[in-house]
Amino acid sequence: MSLNWLARTGHALTGEITVPGDKSISHRAIMLGAIAEGITKVSGFLEGEDTLATARIFQQLGVRIETPSPSERIIHGVGLYGLKQCEEVLDCGNAGTAMRLLTGLLAGQGFRSTLTGDASLSRRPMKRVITPLAQMGCTIESQEGGLPPLIIHANKTLQGIEYRTEVASAQIKSAILLAGLYAQGETTVYEPHPTRDYTEKMLAAFGWPIEYRPGHATLSGGHRLQATNIQVPADFSSAAFFIVAACVIPGSDLLIRAVGMNPRRTGLLATLRLMGASIEEENHQELAGERVADLRVKHAGLFGIDVPEAIVPDMIDEFPALFVAAASARGETRISGAAELRVKESDRLAVMSEALRKLGVGIQETPDGAIIQGGKIQGGETDSHGDHRIAMSLAIAGQLADGAVKILDCENVGTSFPGFVTISTAAGFNLEIES
Ligand code: S3P
Repeated sequence: MSLNWLARTGHALTGEITVPGDKSISHRAIMLGAIAEGITKVSGFLEGEDTLATARIFQQLGVRIETPSPSERIIHGVGLYGLKQCEEVLDCGNAGTAMRLLTGLLAGQGFRSTLTGDASLSRRPMKRVITPLAQMGCTIESQEGGLPPLIIHANKTLQGIEYRTEVASAQIKSAILLAGLYAQGETTVYEPHPTRDYTEKMLAAFGWPIEYRPGHATLSGGHRLQATNIQVPADFSSAAFFIVAACVIPGSDLLIRAVGMNPRRTGLLATLRLMGASIEEENHQELAGERVADLRVKHAGLFGIDVPEAIVPDMIDEFPALFVAAASARGETRISGAAELRVKESDRLAVMSEALRKLGVGIQETPDGAIIQGGKIQGGETDSHGDHRIAMSLAIAGQLADGAVKILDCENVGTSFPGFVTISTAAGFNLEIES
């Protein structure tokens, strides 16, 4: 039975909140900790279904991972060549990051692996990693059209490559770099637009020589990873729902503590500020090499804009929330250059357009974006199609609607944001799990 939510007009958002740890960094901490030499301690780890899937897979591959307390992990690294073959299928669940990065990491092992995922992940394109990894010497079998499950016929003698990715994707870049750890010679990735650099930063923190700058990374095989301790900052993408909610819910004045502020993630701030938002950054600090800041967000009357295409890759996960901001803004918001949204956990352009239309919003879906007429949001029944970020975004819409908003199929919120209902209702949301 699917889990549904009922969202109704809530209160102004006030007080302070802290959101869970960064999903991208948590995945990478498990992966690199597993193949490092020595013991890696992780704090602030995201206890979400996606990152738990990654941890489970490394346990299946013979890595001891302890949980001394929630959000902490102790990883007993087995070294670059210490993973053990697992005859069972390795299940990535809903996690695209797990599947794509693991495909790269497993490409250079001395054994075969099979990666699978849930219904949503089974529809997501994997050719984007299969093609470069094939050029490096790894044969990967997929279903028709390059879809999962994937059978990785690993090759112990991968060759380094120079590769230009067609789409700006940290997952493709990271898959190639992780395979590059096992390859002979140099591996270089060039991107059409810089993407999050967590893999590069974390490789450097584990002592692997790597040269990188925005849009480019180079490393060579033949080194070792030395265990280190990792502190995971709060996930900007989880904070994003509260940033948008506080902008649009009248009377709100909310402090979101210690949010990860990697510039390749914070495009939403620039966009909302163009729309007239009041967001102050306070208490800037550096946490294990990542910038963090407290965000104070106050309600402000937003107006529609043309979202600059150059910002799109820096807010790729934030569009469902932005759609709701646009729906409540004065005037028209135009989004373009965002075709990648069609291959996320759902087709986010289609699913958000369908949902907002059901709530009475004037919205036109385009091949690579949408045109949204801001105004009133009505109550109605919507379907998140099992997409965590769509469900949380529609919960914001429910706070503004003039009737109850029912949101179907919300269980996958646990993939990235366990505790969303508790945290959001404590801050002022009116959100119930339907029984
Ligand atoms: C991620 C990269 C992004 C993002 C995803 C996490 C990562 O995907 O959408 O949620 O951790 O590298 P793409 O690299 O496919 O854009």
